[in-house]
Formats: sequence, C-alpha cells, structure tokens
Amino acid sequence: MKPENARIEVAPSILAADFSALGDAVRAVERGGAQLIHVDVMDGHFVPNISIGVPVVASLRKATRLTLDVHLMIENPEQYIGAFAEAGANWITVHQEATVHLNRAVHQIREHGCRAGVAINPGTPVNSLSEILRDADLILVMSVNPGFGGQHFLEASLQKISELRELRSRYDGSFRIEVDGGIGPDNVAQAVRAGAEILVAGTSVFHTQDPAAAVQDLRRMAAEAVLQRA
Ligand code: DX5
Ligand code: ZN
Repeated sequence: MKPENARIEVAPSILAADFSALGDAVRAVERGGAQLIHVDVMDGHFVPNISIGVPVVASLRKATRLTLDVHLMIENPEQYIGAFAEAGANWITVHQEATVHLNRAVHQIREHGCRAGVAINPGTPVNSLSEILRDADLILVMSVNPGFGGQHFLEASLQKISELRELRSRYDGSFRIEVDGGIGPDNVAQAVRAGAEILVAGTSVFHTQDPAAAVQDLRRMAAEAVLQRA
C-alpha cells in the first residue's frame, strides 16, 4: 500500500502518563483505538532531560500487543539499538543530529527486525535527509524542541511536513511521516492536511479526564482532515 493511503494513526506518548500506572495508561489508549504507543527515551545529553529506558520498553512489551514506537533522544544511539530491539521495540527512531553514522544506524535497526525512523529537530532542515529518505521507513518531524512534553506546537513544522510529502511523491519513496510535539485538538487537522500520518500526542491524551476518549476524538479529527488534503 502507498504510504499516502495508509491509515492515519495517533501514537499516545507515555511520557505524559503516570509512570506508576503505565499498564492502566496503555489499556486506556487501547480502548480509544490507538495502534501505537510512543516511548520517549532521553539521556540527559542529547536533550536536557532524562526519562526512561530499556526495562520500561520490556515491561510495556508484556503489557500490550500494540506497536511500540521508540523515539531515541540519545547520543550514540547505535550503542543501544540492539537492546531496545530485544526488549520488544517495533519501530526505533534515531535523531539525524545524534549520530554521524545515520546510514549505519538505520541499517542496524532494520537488521534487528525493526522499522527504522529518522527524526529531525525544529532547527534541522528537511534537505539534510536527502541521502537517507530511500532507506528510512519513517521520518519524524519534531514540532517542539525535544526534551519535554507539554510544549507549544511550532507552526513552521507544517511546511516541513508538506516538503517531505512532496519529496516522497517525487522520488516514489515509501517512508511514513510522523509529527511529534504539541499535537492536540487545535492543530491535529492542520498537521494531517500538511501530510502527517502518525500523530504523537502526550499531554492532549494523558492530561485529560478520559485518555480513551481523547484518543478517539483525535483519531476522528484526523480521519476527517485527511479527506480535506490537497
Ligand atoms: C518531546 C517528546 C514528545 C512528547 C510529546 O521531546 O519527543 O514525544 O512526549 O508530548 P506533548 O504531546 O505533550 O507535546
Ligand atoms: Zn517523542
């Protein structure tokens, strides 16, 4: 199936969930129809925050059959790809800015049987990805500066999403486009119309009374917006 026609998905980011009750958080978003769980790994070096690591991915793997979408905001990601794959990650995304051996990292992820993603920070242009677009399964556009949940969506990301969509059709690429940071009911439609297919949402899902309903609402808005794409 062409990526254009693949279903739009909401990927709840457990960074915004209560870490003492991750099983409940996962079950709630499953009820809401989520197909993915986004897991933010931070090392205190690549980003100014520390979050969770391999053991949490292993525990999540036992708690759910949903796709585990692991976003590595860490330096030297190559060193940890094997461990995250063995813990049960399905998709592993590394940052373009975090390695000088991006091609090697992407192939390493594939060799471990996972889908390979490449993320770019708000300050990194889409054209820095020209040599990796054919190899990546996923391109993640950061719509906030990585490190923290609950930040304001950066509008300039919309242009980057559209650029990626255009490049993909020009080169007949097959990567999917993910957007991460500040996504919620106010901007989900804009992101989808620009070309986003996987929408990471932390605060707008877990900082609500009813995370299952929040996922349902975002999925519905995304499905409506896709019909309005140019
Ligand atoms: C930020 C993380 C995001 C974050 C999104 O560094 O990569 O995945 O959890 O959270 P919200 O949706 O709250 O911006
Ligand atoms: Zn993330």
